[in-house]
Amino acid sequence: MFLKIENLHKTFSNGLECLTSISLELHNNDFLSIVGPSGCGKSTLLKTISNLESISEGKITFSKDNPNISFVFQEPSLLPWANVFDNVMLPLRLKYNILNREKVDFFLNLVGLYEFSKSYPRELSGGMKMRVSIARALVTEPELILFDEPFSALDEFTREQLNYEILALKNETNYNCIFVTHNIREAVFLSNRILLFSKRPGTIIKELDISFPYPRNEILKTEEEYNHICRDISSSLKEIKVN
Ligand SMILES: Nc1ncnc2c1ncn2[C@@H]1O[C@H](COP(=O)(O)OP(=O)(O)O)[C@@H](O)[C@H]1O
Ligand SMILES: [Mg+2]
Repeated sequence: MFLKIENLHKTFSNGLECLTSISLELHNNDFLSIVGPSGCGKSTLLKTISNLESISEGKITFSKDNPNISFVFQEPSLLPWANVFDNVMLPLRLKYNILNREKVDFFLNLVGLYEFSKSYPRELSGGMKMRVSIARALVTEPELILFDEPFSALDEFTREQLNYEILALKNETNYNCIFVTHNIREAVFLSNRILLFSKRPGTIIKELDISFPYPRNEILKTEEEYNHICRDISSSLKEIKVN
């Protein structure tokens, strides 16, 4: 067990009830995805886990003190005036006040952007910017990465490519992760567990174990069981919207 959330409730100061009765465990090495309707509190949940947002009730416990947590957002949010190398170096400077060039090179190499170290964000494609953002998340060697719909703004081909890449990166660097996505097929392809959320106030209405072995490849997407799980989640989500 890496993270345990017990009976979490979140109501904002304006009275808006955002999350209710959330209990979940993140096990070591989980790829846990969260799928749910827009506005149900998914981003807020990630913020409470990383302590960017307070909780109203309940408990969040980690198996170790001060875990190192990184965030990857839908927007790569790179510094436009800094080159790729400096963008990836940034968290090391901010967090530890160190300049570890070898580490930055290592992670740039891992995401396939070593040759673009000196390029500026404006010179990169959307997929490349997202790779920089992922390298920046990895560079502090986090125990947990929170992905908040990271690939939503990318074209389908780039999204698929990055899906393979984050699985390979997870295999190499062993981070735990919580991955929020609107894309059901992406969630099933990547995850070993998926939580479906109700509409706001968000709560977990279904938990699925996705037991396909890793490493996963595109053949999985043609398998009947994969497609069956995707259809099942899709119809569960349609019910939420009707109710
Ligand atoms: N700081 C805040 N104050 C008040 N309401 C907020 C705040 N942040 C988010 N909300 C509201 O909480 C709800 C859930 O937001 P969010 O967590 O972003 O949903 P999701 O990521 O699932 O789309 C939305 O109705 C949003 O408007
Ligand atoms: Mg969100």
